[in-house]
Amino acid sequence: MKALMLAGGRGTRLRPLTHTSAKQLFPVANKPVIFYGLEAVREAGITEVGVITGETGAEVRAALGDGSRFGLRITYIPQDAPRGLAHCVLIAREFLGDDDFVMYLGDNFLLGGVQELVSAFRAGDYEAQILLAAVDDPRSYGVATLGRSGEIVGLTEKPAEPESDLAIVGVYLFSPAIHEAVRAIGPSARGELEITDAVQWLIAHGHRVHSHLVSGYWKDTGRARDILECNRMVLESVEPRLDGTVAGRTEIIGRVVLEAGAVVEDSVLRGPIVIGTGTKILRSYVGPFTSIADNCMLEDAEIEYSIVFDNASVRGVSRIGESIIGRDARVLPAPRTPAAHQLIVGDHSTVRLRA
Ligand code: TTP
Repeated sequence: MKALMLAGGRGTRLRPLTHTSAKQLFPVANKPVIFYGLEAVREAGITEVGVITGETGAEVRAALGDGSRFGLRITYIPQDAPRGLAHCVLIAREFLGDDDFVMYLGDNFLLGGVQELVSAFRAGDYEAQILLAAVDDPRSYGVATLGRSGEIVGLTEKPAEPESDLAIVGVYLFSPAIHEAVRAIGPSARGELEITDAVQWLIAHGHRVHSHLVSGYWKDTGRARDILECNRMVLESVEPRLDGTVAGRTEIIGRVVLEAGAVVEDSVLRGPIVIGTGTKILRSYVGPFTSIADNCMLEDAEIEYSIVFDNASVRGVSRIGESIIGRDARVLPAPRTPAAHQLIVGDHSTVRLRA
């Protein structure tokens, strides 16, 4: 059994952050989201991993290396353009050989790992196994329609009018039969080779495809609010640890991780939160479900339910909530006069101001 980890793509829904960074490396509780997937793969006993990379390939390689830090052997497979999930299987043909494999979307978070799914697939007699989860708005997912006895009768990618609320989770198991399917299909209306079409092809050609409803937590972190939600979920079970320096009149409530080399002074930290090494928090309030990465500066600031990437600073601003602040970004108060917001906002950014 091998794994194919997808770390290419466009990431348009996460602009401007994806203009400079791979979304699979966005931090969830201060750890890149793809690391959770790689760890899950290793826990399932898989060691050979192919990683599909796109424009952000250099950054992904720098973060993952040869895979030895995860106990994995990584082979990088560059994709010339985001031509679809089935295209990823197509270009990984040589790496995958005639092995079964788990295909894992690098920006998906699945609690509980993949060990059981891998065992079930090994024990079963299927050519493919897909996972489904009920979602509120299925239009931005691959969607499955099930027949009376729970068999899959149809799969559609990002349908305008979904026939069910069952989204396809970004963790698939395939036998080598998928290779014929990805060669047989053509591009969809949006010009991509869709994995839903390939699985549909398997079904149409008499192959057995098993579906399994996910009972635990799953999140596709393709949109900003999903990353914040996923961050919340992971922080819920964080083990408190104060390895950094706590000084002055600081109040710490609940589960707080303060990495070595972080400094907090005259502040209120209300967990669950994580604060990275080299970060300074002065006269500030950090509220629940917030992750602050390394080497950040918070001064006279209030922030909650947010993610702050490396080297960012927030000074003299209250209160920030439900926000993602990118690397090296600065959030500062405007001068008193004129009473105007002063913005230098990157392409494709979203700013919501309390007027
Ligand atoms: P998506 O999130 O469906 O696509 P995207 O990354 O292009 O994002 P957006 O819709 O916001 O523009 O991709 C799912 C995962 O698969 C993600 O981790 C990126 C990866 N991927 C590839 O590696 N190659 C591809 O051709 C595609 C389409 C996605």
